[in-house]
Amino acid sequence: MTVYLDNAATSWPKPPGMMESMAEFNGRTGASPGRSGHRLSIEAGRTVEEARALTAELINARDSLRIAFTKNATEALNIVLLGLLKPGDHVITSDLEHNSVMRPLRLLESRGIEVSIAPCSAKGELDPEAVGPLIKKNTRLIVLAHASNVTGGILPVAEIGKLARERDVLFCVDAAQTAGAVPIDVEEMCIDFLAFSGHKSLYGPQGTGGLFVREGLEHELDFIMAGGTGSRSEEELHPDFMPDRFEAGTPNAIGIAGLGAGLRFLRDTGVSIIREKESRLIGALIEGLDEIEGVILYGPPAGAERVPVISCNVKGMGPSEVSQSLDEEFGVMTRPGLHCAPAAHRTIGTLPEGTLRLSPGYFNTMEDIWHALDALESIALTAWRRG
Ligand code: ALA
Repeated sequence: MTVYLDNAATSWPKPPGMMESMAEFNGRTGASPGRSGHRLSIEAGRTVEEARALTAELINARDSLRIAFTKNATEALNIVLLGLLKPGDHVITSDLEHNSVMRPLRLLESRGIEVSIAPCSAKGELDPEAVGPLIKKNTRLIVLAHASNVTGGILPVAEIGKLARERDVLFCVDAAQTAGAVPIDVEEMCIDFLAFSGHKSLYGPQGTGGLFVREGLEHELDFIMAGGTGSRSEEELHPDFMPDRFEAGTPNAIGIAGLGAGLRFLRDTGVSIIREKESRLIGALIEGLDEIEGVILYGPPAGAERVPVISCNVKGMGPSEVSQSLDEEFGVMTRPGLHCAPAAHRTIGTLPEGTLRLSPGYFNTMEDIWHALDALESIALTAWRRG
């Protein structure tokens, strides 16, 4: 029996129809979208625009053209952070962030941008009250993960979005772990920029992602890449309108065709149905782990709002050894270590080794969870015997 519990890295398997739609794009359409004007190019353009419209519907963006496709959430975050912040600006983030936020911010810090980190609790919870006092005259942006890829805890983005709007500060959300898994409403949550991954809970292929930019704000972002867009070809200056401003070069149309199929699956199944199933799986996993002698659980308490991600450790055995044993002896695939988020591990006290992360997805079954729990019980016993 093999059990894939690494959906926080990338969802797998993908829904029926995802691969087929990529094969169909390659076999029947194939052309470059928005470029040549012949029938296949127009058809390719339709495929891209359909995926854009489905994404807009999912996050309640009023106009699908507010969404630019990127190669991943990291690229989308870099477009915002490197494009917006200038020397003398101040930016606030949390101490749970992934390196896709932390690394661009540390780079910007070396260029004269001030960075403040709102502290989270040792369980990875952020009190929205902790953010307000950090806002200063020169605060330009608050950038925050919607959910931690280490603890699975969901951060209070709606409250912080409201605060940012009231204080006239821009608000960027890293939805890598939540787009498709948790309802997102960019209007209600006062989100100005939303970076998302296509290959996690949107069920697209790797190499897809995107960025929502609120109307009018695209001009606040200096583009970090310029080139061909298929539009205004007579001009040597890069277009200033969405989505072309952030889509230089031929897009990953075949990937976007797959993303479109993932988004159709999501629309037809329903985020709430998926969330309900994933909550049952993660609930059973947490309950089971809690009962295993020698397993330490991290993150928010049972019952807290979370995505299907849990970090734990086995006393007396490092996370890499546990993960290797799970894979080689029991066929259970997990991710050990720091999960590209050392800040989060500093916060929950799991540096330098990190944790074992288990992240079930919609296509897992309760049997998968029981198998993983049996495997971990056996590993915990081995670790205990070893002393
Ligand atoms: N950010 C991804 C993860 O958490 C890759 O595994």
